[in-house]
Amino acid sequence: MLEVKNLSKTYEGGKKSLRDVSFTAKAGEVTAIIGPSGAGKTTLLRSINQLITDDSGQILFDGQNIRELSRRQLKQTRSKIGMIFQNYNLIEPLTTIENVLHGSLARKSTIAGVLSLYSKQEKQEALQLIDEVGLKEFAFNYCSDLSGGQKQRVGIARSLMQHPKMMLCDEPIASLDPRSTTMVMTILRRLADEKQLMILINLHQVDIAKTYADHLIGLNNGRIVFDGQAAEATDRQIEAIYSGVDSLVTE
Ligand SMILES: Nc1ncnc2c1ncn2[C@@H]1O[C@H](COP(=O)(O)OP(=O)(O)O)[C@@H](O)[C@H]1O
Ligand SMILES: [Mg+2]
Repeated sequence: MLEVKNLSKTYEGGKKSLRDVSFTAKAGEVTAIIGPSGAGKTTLLRSINQLITDDSGQILFDGQNIRELSRRQLKQTRSKIGMIFQNYNLIEPLTTIENVLHGSLARKSTIAGVLSLYSKQEKQEALQLIDEVGLKEFAFNYCSDLSGGQKQRVGIARSLMQHPKMMLCDEPIASLDPRSTTMVMTILRRLADEKQLMILINLHQVDIAKTYADHLIGLNNGRIVFDGQAAEATDRQIEAIYSGVDSLVTE
């Protein structure tokens, strides 16, 4: 379980990007975070694994307050948090399997990592994960030759190599066509259902959020303006998320 309590973030220059944000996300659930551009979606995901430092609040994950961990503890906790990006963040001149194997670096010693020493077992696991995201025939292709949807599936397999408990996905389908979108969202849904992963996903598309997510959070101007079941969000509530009301929208 992830519990975010009263989280606030002010960027240098005084822009308040998260204002007293509190919510809970559960294992086995897909939580979609929607809201207009600039609402604070990326800031929220990046503070969850402390890629940015926030002002105040609590982020409780697996019973620990992530904001209070030592560097060593934070590294260990981060290894349980996979990240998926809009632009995939792959090493394009490397092959699919090489990129996926990189995901295991988070839980290896520095020396083994630097020398890229992968065990036979890790290579087998990487191939298995590549198969699970439907890319078996592309395991030894260079990522630069793959389509956007295929690249994103490599990104998912790479993060699974970390054995994550939580996946933070920042606009993972924003650059994809509808067919690739369906494929990527179906995989993320399956990971929540079958591996009981906790999936947090920043999205622009409300219809996708309603189709694939259990839980919907609406952000506007750094504030939570909707928190409820995705299927039950009404058109009026969705409209309010995008139009900029400053408090929780209830019917
Ligand atoms: N590094 C930064 N420095 C200053 N302001 C930032 C920075 N990153 C984001 N912001 C501001 O914080 C707000 C939220 O941004 P962001 O989290 O990227 O929103 P979203 O992902 O919902 O589009 C925006 O007003 C943005 O301009
Ligand atoms: Mg963003």
